[in-house]
Amino acid sequence: MTEKKAQLSFGDKQLELPIYSGTLGPDVIDVSQITGNGAFTFDPGFVSTASCESKITFIDGGKGVLLHRGYPIDQLAENSDYLEVCYLLMYGELPNADQKSQFVDTIHNHTMVHEQLRNFYQGFRRDAHPMAIMCGVVGALSAFYHDSLEISDERHREIAAFRLIAKMPTLAAMCYKYSLGQPFMYPRNDLSYSENFLHMMFGVPCEDYEVNPVLAKAMDKIFILHADHEQNASTSTVRLAGSSGANPFACIAAGIAALWGPAHGGANEAVLNMLDEIGDVSNVDTYVAKAKDKNDPFRLMGFGHRVYKNYDPRATVMRDTCHQVLNELGVNDPQLELAMKLEEIAREDDYFVSKNLYPNVDFYSGIILKAIGIPTSMFTVIFALARTVGWVAHWHEMISNPYRIGRPRQLYTGEEKRDWKPVSDR
Ligand code: SDX
Repeated sequence: MTEKKAQLSFGDKQLELPIYSGTLGPDVIDVSQITGNGAFTFDPGFVSTASCESKITFIDGGKGVLLHRGYPIDQLAENSDYLEVCYLLMYGELPNADQKSQFVDTIHNHTMVHEQLRNFYQGFRRDAHPMAIMCGVVGALSAFYHDSLEISDERHREIAAFRLIAKMPTLAAMCYKYSLGQPFMYPRNDLSYSENFLHMMFGVPCEDYEVNPVLAKAMDKIFILHADHEQNASTSTVRLAGSSGANPFACIAAGIAALWGPAHGGANEAVLNMLDEIGDVSNVDTYVAKAKDKNDPFRLMGFGHRVYKNYDPRATVMRDTCHQVLNELGVNDPQLELAMKLEEIAREDDYFVSKNLYPNVDFYSGIILKAIGIPTSMFTVIFALARTVGWVAHWHEMISNPYRIGRPRQLYTGEEKRDWKPVSDR
């Protein structure tokens, strides 16, 4: 098949740039020749840039499609559990019964953390934001697991992935317990991944804790809906950190830091804070007007997306789960009513319709997390916990194939060369 080419002319240059086609999605234009011909591409925010080739997740923003290794997110959320999705993201296929059983056992065997890691928590104030703690303790894992840091060794990469997937719930629950002044709970191997997390979050050593199956299922679904999302800001951060050869624990800590921002994973916490601020349906119009006002920095948190210019398919599943969980718990949460009203008004408003601003994954997740009993400050920690498998899958995919250190260039608009002047001449 003849190779497709894009023609580019600038100055006295005439370039023929190769065009590559993927399995799904837009073609890409290979611009690598441009630098050798005296120019850089310019794409702040990487709106039009494909940073890599990947087989893990596909998103069609126009159609609101999200596939993990080809499987639609709604089918996975309905039929799989989180560890099955982890296996799929890591190995590319759904596990058979034996593979699943072995994977679950392997993850169970890595859920405990080194006892000395507990000391790291003592160094934080009790009211420290749990994402600040997670940035620290996840990066610190590289100080404890020297036996899985040789990134060129496939087995080391796999063990590091197991450790990260298995230990994130333990570390996350420890953040919550530390904030309460309660003792840390050890993981239990007789519980499922989500049951274990809820047990470590809400159990106490003084009595048995019975995990509510409705909440465990909702928690597991939330983990699935946050597992991976192509080359988002935090995943791109993990890939960039990994491209320098940094160890996997340091790379994931970098991803956690990037996720924390309110424009990214911090939005779920920001949505609940926003709903608290709006307070009542009668104030919705005022806040929608603020969101539309160019001079007002206020944005409707949980709305809009760089890629989805249609409904975020995860938000659809999340909204249905929200109703289901609240109904099953017999909870009538006024914030859900407020959120539904806000969505209804925003979706009828030309500003939001014209800019294709739909609810995203973060718009409803906070309401479910609150119903499960998770405090708002822990929402982004839950996102980081769930997204760890996506981060390690992309990191592993990159390191398993030929790669180069990521090193973007710039458009320099600063001063031309000038000589230093003594202070007497300034
Ligand atoms: C996640 O990338 C991923 O995949 C991320 C994620 C994942 O799973 O990893 O999906 C998770 O991060 C979801 C997004 C969570 N963030 C929020 O809910 C915060 C609120 N949303 C916005 O900050 C914004 O929509 C972004 C950051 C999500 C997207 O920003 P873009 O793509 O840079 O879009 P933009 O800021 O250029 O907005 C385009 C226009 C602007 O107006 P104009 O300058 O064109 O006139 O839409 C407006 C924006 O002002 N706009 C909003 C808005 N979001 C965009 N106006 C009001 N409220 C909003 N929420």
